Amino acid sequence: MRLYYFKNAEDLARQIAGALGLDAKLVEERDFPDGEVLVRVEPAREAILLARLYPDVNKNLVKLFLALDALSDYGADRVVLVAPYLPYARQDRRFRDGEPISVKFLLSHLRQYPVSHLIAVDLHKPYIGDYVAGLRVVNVYPAEKYAAAVRRWSVDVVLSPDAGSLHRAAALAELLGVPYNYFEKFRDRETGEIYMKPRGDVSLQGKSVVLVDDILATGGTLVDACKNAKLLGASAVYAVVSHCQLLGNAREKIKGCVNALYCTNTIPCEYSSLDVSEDLAKSISAIL
Ligand code: R5P
Repeated sequence: MRLYYFKNAEDLARQIAGALGLDAKLVEERDFPDGEVLVRVEPAREAILLARLYPDVNKNLVKLFLALDALSDYGADRVVLVAPYLPYARQDRRFRDGEPISVKFLLSHLRQYPVSHLIAVDLHKPYIGDYVAGLRVVNVYPAEKYAAAVRRWSVDVVLSPDAGSLHRAAALAELLGVPYNYFEKFRDRETGEIYMKPRGDVSLQGKSVVLVDDILATGGTLVDACKNAKLLGASAVYAVVSHCQLLGNAREKIKGCVNALYCTNTIPCEYSSLDVSEDLAKSISAIL
């Protein structure tokens, strides 16, 4: 089995290929002045295809589908796709009439090709994996890595900024042996202001808190939770986020509140200290 990778995933490809003793082959890419793209792959019957789809998600998705199409035309009958960050996953349902379920669209189009498995880190919602019959989705959640990163801070409680990330808080809290919960939002009836507090009135006074979420985009969600934790007396607030996009002025917002932030290298940035290549290699090895 050969590992194909796009140039922007070279760091992960080297680690994964080294761990599994695979031959790594670069997918050739061309970007034309008019915005069109082209790729070129060496034919193979079986392949692992590693695609880092963020940033430039739309362009990278077209390149991914072109690579799958070429592999398929040349007779590939099995492709294990590794997309460390799966984009379009936040549109995992119809929020308004007339909208698509974008992630279902994406997965069902992967299924048009001989993609047997999709391996991704921390899917926005674990149930996304069941959307398309015949496509086996492996959701890698590197909780051990997260626990190792924050253990030094003598964590008292793990909190998610909303109910949607509670399963992440639960996984980390179990490894740390501490309680977990999520923030609920309330509106002050007199001032109209929104405030947050942990469900079940968990006291944060003097506590060392870890916040967990899947994505840090503008930083608004995480920083709101952080500010509220500090207002409620938290002595320190650390954060673990799988995919760090750092949009707009997210950097300044984070620096103004969070004591330390740990992210994975699914999206490389100054906070992506947690390398998921070993976790991805293990998942690949388990299905080969
Ligand atoms: C939302 O459902 C996600 O889990 C994240 O909480 C969200 O994408 C974070 O976005 P932002 O950083 O812009 O608040």
